[in-house]
This record gives sequence, C-alpha cells and structure tokens, in this order.
Amino acid sequence: MDCLRTIFERRAVREYTGQPVDREILLTLVRAGMAAPTSKDRRHLRFVVVDDGALVDQMVEDLPYSKMLATARHAIIVASDLSVAYAVEDTDYWAQNCAAAAQNILLAATAQGLGSCWTSMHPREERIVFLRKILKLPEYVRPFCVIAIGFAAERLEPRDKFNESHVFWR
Ligand SMILES: Cc1cc2nc3c(=O)[nH]c(=O)nc-3n(C[C@H](O)[C@H](O)[C@H](O)COP(=O)(O)O)c2cc1C
Repeated sequence: MDCLRTIFERRAVREYTGQPVDREILLTLVRAGMAAPTSKDRRHLRFVVVDDGALVDQMVEDLPYSKMLATARHAIIVASDLSVAYAVEDTDYWAQNCAAAAQNILLAATAQGLGSCWTSMHPREERIVFLRKILKLPEYVRPFCVIAIGFAAERLEPRDKFNESHVFWR
C-alpha cells in the first residue's frame, strides 16, 4: 500500500476479531514508532507491547475509553523515559515526539492490514498511575497513549476530512 493511500484509509477501529497478531508484526509496528522524528533526536521513546490476556483484561476493566481492547487483544503503549527526555534543557517536546511515534504505529498497522485505535492516557494522571502500576514501569517512564491493535471486525470506509476553508495561503 503506498503511503498516501495508507494515510487516507486509516480509521479508528473499535471492533476486532480477537485473532492473534504475530509478535514479529507487533515488533514491526514498534520499529515504525521508533522511526518517528524526535526533537534533538533524543531516544527517549519507550514502547510496551501487551499481548498477555490477563493484562489486557485489566486494562479493559479500568480504562473506560479503551474498551475496544476486549476484542483487539493487543496493545502498544507509547511512553517516554523522562529521565532521558529531560536530561538536557529545552526538551519539553516529549509529548509531541510520542504523538509522532503513535501516528507512525497507526499507519504501519493499516499498511499491515491491521486495525488500530489511539486511546489517550497523558495528561490524565489517574490513567498514567494505573498503567505504571499494572505494567510495572518505573516512575520516570510516563505512558503517553495506549494503541489497540488487532484484526478489524468492521469495515470502516475512508472519510474525506479535507476542508479547503481551513487552509490559509499567504
Ligand atoms: C489524542 C487522541 C486521543 C484519542 N482517545 C481515544 C480514546 O480514548 N478512545 C477512543 O475510542 N478513541 C480515541 N481516539 C480516536 C479518535 O476518537 C478518532 O481518531 C476520531 O474519532 C477520528 O476518527 P478516525 O481516526 O477514524 O478518523 C483518540 C485520538 C487521538 C488523536
């Protein structure tokens, strides 16, 4: 699938078949996340790949906006090692770096024939505390978002969101 087609076809998928996704493919998605641009090329992005059923169930139970994990059965958490992000001045860009990585993962999933859905954690402190605890992450690693990954059980048509009146030419 070429890049533009992937961008236009990606949709937030919330119904999945529950079919397992190979670890190799999940790693390819993480590789895509790591390929994202980061300010000052700080390598502070961290990724947690969850394919453990019990952990997925805990997330379904306690994360109200991530219920699609019940059928997706896999999640990639994009996180930041803040001890690395803040090791130099002027690195308040960690969240933007995480967002770039998350978008790369969504697009890589689409290109691999998978469905995905970004669900937000940062800046909701209670969700971050919960995730840190169940994923056994150290205090300096801050989860940014949880991306549900799986085989889509629904066919969502691409939507054209282009609106020329939102574009300024100067
Ligand atoms: C920062 C961010 C947070 C989001 N959080 C959630 C969420 O918690 N739960 C959810 O189901 N979808 C979430 N989404 C997905 C959006 O709802 C979805 O992208 C939007 O409705 C547009 O649909 P589309 O992605 O199919 O174009 C989030 C997307 C972004 C970028």
